[in-house]
Amino acid sequence: MLKELFDRRSIRRYTDRPIPKEVITELLHAAMNAPSARNTQSWRFLVITDRKTLDDMPSLQPYTGMMRQAQAAVLVLGDRTAESDEGYLYVNCAAAIENLLVEAVHQGLGACWCAVAPKPERIEGFTRYFRLDGTVLPVGIVALGWPAEERPRVDQYDPSKVSFWKG
Ligand SMILES: Cc1cc2nc3c(=O)[nH]c(=O)nc-3n(C[C@H](O)[C@H](O)[C@H](O)COP(=O)(O)O)c2cc1C
Repeated sequence: MLKELFDRRSIRRYTDRPIPKEVITELLHAAMNAPSARNTQSWRFLVITDRKTLDDMPSLQPYTGMMRQAQAAVLVLGDRTAESDEGYLYVNCAAAIENLLVEAVHQGLGACWCAVAPKPERIEGFTRYFRLDGTVLPVGIVALGWPAEERPRVDQYDPSKVSFWKG
């Protein structure tokens, strides 16, 4: 089984060591290799490393306290002009985020996925703060940093959630 999938946990404490731009670019390579409905690749990414912006994040989304320690964040946006059905924006962006998280583990980084959509007040807050136009939907934001906490790996396999169709 793929080691990084099982090592991935939400990490919310980080050291103050910066993340090289090349490492962030590798995360984005992984994100953009996700599958997407009709191959629209309707995701867009806004990379944030500015300290004040990271510190401002909890005022836009209350469960992003870890951003105060994060060295970077990636805001994942769904491009409405590339996708007729908003539902596909969510699933395409979610696939990209999961790829990014798994690559973050591979790079030795800690990361935490934080939801923006579908909460209307968060969509509105991020749209205003980042001066987004109406063509993009802020789907989620990922906090990134070199980990300052360890969380044990887990295997969440639960046979009660699986059934085998017998026809
Ligand atoms: C759609 C989504 C939204 C999430 N939003 C937040 C969030 O706002 N703040 C946070 O600290 N964690 C957030 N998480 C992380 C979850 O809390 C975490 O994945 C879950 O508790 C399982 O823990 P693990 O990631 O360590 O396996 C989110 C995860 C997902 C998939």
